[in-house]
Amino acid sequence: MQIFLDSSDTTQIRDLAATGLVDGITTNPSLIAKAGRPMLEVIAEICGIVEGPISAEVVAKDAKTMLAEGRKLAGIAPNVVVKLPLTRDGLTACAELAREGINVNVTLCFSAVQALLAAKAGAAYISPFIGRLDDHGADGVGLIADIRAIYDNYGYDTEILAASIRNAEHVKGSALAGADCATIPPEVFSTLFKHPLTDKGLDQFLSDWAKTGQSIL
Ligand code: E4P
Repeated sequence: MQIFLDSSDTTQIRDLAATGLVDGITTNPSLIAKAGRPMLEVIAEICGIVEGPISAEVVAKDAKTMLAEGRKLAGIAPNVVVKLPLTRDGLTACAELAREGINVNVTLCFSAVQALLAAKAGAAYISPFIGRLDDHGADGVGLIADIRAIYDNYGYDTEILAASIRNAEHVKGSALAGADCATIPPEVFSTLFKHPLTDKGLDQFLSDWAKTGQSIL
Protein backbone atom coordinates (compact mmCIF):
# COMPACT_ATOMS: atom_id res chain seq x y z
CA MET A 1 0.00 0.00 0.00
CA GLN A 2 1.31 3.45 -0.87
CA ILE A 3 1.68 5.84 2.04
CA PHE A 4 0.83 9.49 1.52
CA LEU A 5 1.07 12.23 4.14
CA ASP A 6 -2.00 14.41 4.64
CA SER A 7 -0.21 17.68 5.33
CA SER A 8 0.83 21.10 4.07
CA ASP A 9 3.57 21.47 6.68
CA THR A 10 6.77 21.40 4.63
CA THR A 11 9.01 21.00 7.71
CA GLN A 12 7.12 17.87 8.78
CA ILE A 13 6.96 16.60 5.19
CA ARG A 14 10.72 17.02 4.74
CA ASP A 15 11.40 15.24 8.04
CA LEU A 16 9.13 12.25 7.35
CA ALA A 17 10.06 11.96 3.66
CA ALA A 18 13.61 11.28 4.86
CA THR A 19 12.37 7.85 6.04
CA GLY A 20 12.03 6.84 2.39
CA LEU A 21 8.51 5.56 3.16
CA VAL A 22 6.46 8.48 1.82
CA ASP A 23 5.00 7.94 -1.65
CA GLY A 24 2.96 11.12 -2.02
CA ILE A 25 1.21 14.03 -0.29
CA THR A 26 -2.38 15.23 -0.08
CA THR A 27 -3.45 18.73 0.88
CA ASN A 28 -6.83 20.40 1.20
CA PRO A 29 -7.97 24.02 1.65
CA SER A 30 -8.07 23.64 5.46
CA LEU A 31 -4.49 22.33 5.55
CA ILE A 32 -3.34 25.15 3.25
CA ALA A 33 -5.03 27.68 5.54
CA LYS A 34 -3.21 26.09 8.49
CA ALA A 35 0.14 26.48 6.68
CA GLY A 36 -0.51 30.24 6.55
CA ARG A 37 1.41 30.64 3.27
CA PRO A 38 0.42 31.20 -0.39
CA MET A 39 -0.98 27.95 -1.79
CA LEU A 40 0.95 27.92 -5.07
CA GLU A 41 4.22 28.44 -3.19
CA VAL A 42 3.47 25.63 -0.70
CA ILE A 43 2.48 23.16 -3.43
CA ALA A 44 5.60 23.99 -5.48
CA GLU A 45 7.79 23.44 -2.42
CA ILE A 46 6.13 20.10 -1.61
CA CYS A 47 6.56 18.97 -5.23
CA GLY A 48 10.28 19.61 -4.81
CA ILE A 49 10.46 17.46 -1.68
CA VAL A 50 8.42 14.40 -2.73
CA GLU A 51 8.58 13.00 -6.26
CA GLY A 52 5.26 11.15 -6.05
CA PRO A 53 1.73 12.48 -6.53
CA ILE A 54 0.94 15.77 -4.72
CA SER A 55 -2.78 16.55 -4.46
CA ALA A 56 -3.77 20.23 -4.71
CA GLU A 57 -7.46 21.06 -4.31
CA VAL A 58 -9.58 23.51 -6.26
CA VAL A 59 -11.91 25.84 -4.35
CA ALA A 60 -14.47 26.70 -7.05
CA LYS A 61 -17.93 25.11 -6.99
CA ASP A 62 -18.76 25.34 -10.71
CA ALA A 63 -17.16 23.09 -13.33
CA LYS A 64 -15.91 25.92 -15.54
CA THR A 65 -13.94 27.63 -12.76
CA MET A 66 -12.81 24.25 -11.41
CA LEU A 67 -11.29 23.54 -14.82
CA ALA A 68 -9.44 26.85 -14.86
CA GLU A 69 -8.15 26.34 -11.30
CA GLY A 70 -7.28 22.70 -12.01
CA ARG A 71 -5.26 23.55 -15.12
CA LYS A 72 -3.40 26.25 -13.19
CA LEU A 73 -2.59 23.88 -10.31
CA ALA A 74 -1.51 21.14 -12.75
CA GLY A 75 0.91 23.64 -14.28
CA ILE A 76 2.87 23.96 -11.02
CA ALA A 77 4.74 20.66 -11.50
CA PRO A 78 4.28 17.39 -13.39
CA ASN A 79 3.51 15.47 -10.19
CA VAL A 80 0.53 17.63 -9.18
CA VAL A 81 -2.77 15.76 -8.95
CA VAL A 82 -5.80 18.04 -9.12
CA LYS A 83 -8.22 17.41 -6.27
CA LEU A 84 -11.90 17.94 -7.04
CA PRO A 85 -14.92 17.52 -4.76
CA LEU A 86 -17.38 14.71 -5.39
CA THR A 87 -20.20 16.87 -6.73
CA ARG A 88 -21.87 16.86 -10.12
CA ASP A 89 -19.71 19.80 -11.21
CA GLY A 90 -16.62 18.13 -9.72
CA LEU A 91 -17.16 14.98 -11.76
CA THR A 92 -17.92 16.98 -14.91
CA ALA A 93 -14.59 18.78 -14.47
CA CYS A 94 -12.90 15.46 -13.64
CA ALA A 95 -14.00 13.89 -16.93
CA GLU A 96 -12.62 16.87 -18.87
CA LEU A 97 -9.29 17.05 -17.01
CA ALA A 98 -8.87 13.28 -17.41
CA ARG A 99 -9.44 13.71 -21.17
CA GLU A 100 -6.65 16.32 -21.12
CA GLY A 101 -4.31 13.85 -19.42
CA ILE A 102 -4.39 15.56 -15.99
CA ASN A 103 -4.57 13.23 -12.99
CA VAL A 104 -7.52 13.90 -10.67
CA ASN A 105 -8.11 12.91 -7.05
CA VAL A 106 -11.85 13.01 -6.33
CA THR A 107 -12.31 13.94 -2.70
CA LEU A 108 -15.09 14.02 -0.09
CA CYS A 109 -16.37 10.56 -1.08
CA PHE A 110 -18.80 9.06 1.43
CA SER A 111 -20.59 6.32 -0.55
CA ALA A 112 -19.83 3.45 -2.90
CA VAL A 113 -22.03 4.82 -5.66
CA GLN A 114 -20.17 8.15 -5.52
CA ALA A 115 -16.95 6.17 -5.97
CA LEU A 116 -18.46 4.32 -8.94
CA LEU A 117 -19.27 7.65 -10.63
CA ALA A 118 -15.76 8.98 -9.95
CA ALA A 119 -14.24 5.94 -11.65
CA LYS A 120 -16.54 6.43 -14.64
CA ALA A 121 -15.37 10.07 -14.76
CA GLY A 122 -11.79 8.86 -15.15
CA ALA A 123 -10.48 9.80 -11.69
CA ALA A 124 -6.94 8.62 -11.01
CA TYR A 125 -7.76 8.47 -7.26
CA ILE A 126 -10.91 8.29 -5.17
CA SER A 127 -10.68 9.55 -1.57
CA PRO A 128 -13.22 7.95 0.80
CA PHE A 129 -13.17 9.79 4.16
CA ILE A 130 -13.21 6.96 6.65
CA GLY A 131 -12.70 8.93 9.90
CA ARG A 132 -15.51 11.35 9.15
CA LEU A 133 -17.79 8.41 8.27
CA ASP A 134 -16.98 6.72 11.59
CA ASP A 135 -17.71 10.01 13.39
CA HIS A 136 -21.09 9.94 11.62
CA GLY A 137 -21.85 6.45 12.98
CA ALA A 138 -21.12 4.67 9.68
CA ASP A 139 -18.40 2.12 8.79
CA GLY A 140 -15.51 3.89 7.08
CA VAL A 141 -13.35 0.83 6.47
CA GLY A 142 -16.44 -1.03 5.23
CA LEU A 143 -16.78 1.61 2.52
CA ILE A 144 -13.22 0.91 1.37
CA ALA A 145 -14.08 -2.80 1.07
CA ASP A 146 -17.26 -2.02 -0.91
CA ILE A 147 -15.40 0.26 -3.34
CA ARG A 148 -12.63 -2.37 -3.76
CA ALA A 149 -15.25 -4.98 -4.71
CA ILE A 150 -16.99 -2.65 -7.19
CA TYR A 151 -13.78 -1.50 -8.86
CA ASP A 152 -12.57 -5.11 -9.14
CA ASN A 153 -15.94 -6.20 -10.60
CA TYR A 154 -15.51 -3.83 -13.52
CA GLY A 155 -11.74 -3.51 -13.78
CA TYR A 156 -11.63 0.21 -12.96
CA ASP A 157 -8.05 1.34 -12.39
CA THR A 158 -8.98 4.34 -10.21
CA GLU A 159 -6.84 3.99 -7.09
CA ILE A 160 -8.55 3.89 -3.71
CA LEU A 161 -6.90 6.49 -1.46
CA ALA A 162 -8.15 5.98 2.10
CA ALA A 163 -8.48 9.46 3.65
CA SER A 164 -9.53 11.08 6.93
CA ILE A 165 -7.44 8.55 8.81
CA ARG A 166 -7.35 9.04 12.56
CA ASN A 167 -5.33 6.12 13.95
CA ALA A 168 -3.28 3.00 13.23
CA GLU A 169 -6.41 0.81 13.18
CA HIS A 170 -7.69 2.86 10.23
CA VAL A 171 -4.42 2.20 8.41
CA LYS A 172 -4.63 -1.53 9.14
CA GLY A 173 -8.31 -1.69 8.16
CA SER A 174 -7.65 0.17 4.91
CA ALA A 175 -4.79 -2.17 4.02
CA LEU A 176 -6.89 -5.27 4.79
CA ALA A 177 -9.79 -3.90 2.75
CA GLY A 178 -7.52 -3.43 -0.27
CA ALA A 179 -6.95 0.33 -0.41
CA ASP A 180 -4.21 1.20 -2.91
CA CYS A 181 -3.00 4.13 -0.79
CA ALA A 182 -3.71 5.75 2.54
CA THR A 183 -3.18 9.42 3.29
CA ILE A 184 -2.08 9.72 6.88
CA PRO A 185 -1.65 12.77 9.14
CA PRO A 186 2.02 13.10 10.23
CA GLU A 187 1.13 12.50 13.92
CA VAL A 188 -0.57 9.19 13.03
CA PHE A 189 2.26 8.16 10.68
CA SER A 190 4.76 8.60 13.54
CA THR A 191 2.76 6.21 15.75
CA LEU A 192 2.92 3.42 13.13
CA PHE A 193 6.57 2.67 13.95
CA LYS A 194 5.88 2.08 17.62
CA HIS A 195 5.20 -1.01 19.72
CA PRO A 196 6.10 -1.32 23.43
CA LEU A 197 7.54 -4.81 22.86
CA THR A 198 9.89 -3.39 20.21
CA ASP A 199 11.26 -0.88 22.74
CA LYS A 200 11.49 -3.51 25.48
CA GLY A 201 13.18 -6.05 23.19
CA LEU A 202 15.69 -3.49 21.92
CA ASP A 203 16.60 -2.40 25.46
CA GLN A 204 17.27 -6.04 26.36
CA PHE A 205 19.36 -6.75 23.24
CA LEU A 206 21.48 -3.63 23.74
CA SER A 207 22.01 -4.25 27.43
CA ASP A 208 23.18 -7.85 26.71
CA TRP A 209 25.40 -6.55 23.91
CA ALA A 210 26.99 -3.91 26.18
CA LYS A 211 28.10 -6.72 28.52
CA THR A 212 30.17 -8.31 25.72
CA GLY A 213 32.38 -5.20 25.45
CA GLN A 214 32.37 -5.63 21.66
CA SER A 215 31.89 -3.04 18.91
CA ILE A 216 30.78 -3.68 15.32
CA LEU A 217 32.58 -0.65 13.83
C1 E4P B 1 -8.01 13.94 2.22
O1 E4P B 1 -7.44 14.10 1.19
C2 E4P B 1 -8.26 14.97 3.23
O2 E4P B 1 -7.25 15.95 3.12
C3 E4P B 1 -8.18 14.48 4.65
O3 E4P B 1 -7.83 13.14 4.74
C4 E4P B 1 -9.34 14.89 5.49
O4 E4P B 1 -9.15 14.40 6.79
P1 E4P B 1 -9.93 14.97 8.06
O5 E4P B 1 -11.27 14.34 8.11
O6 E4P B 1 -9.07 14.55 9.23
O7 E4P B 1 -9.99 16.47 7.89
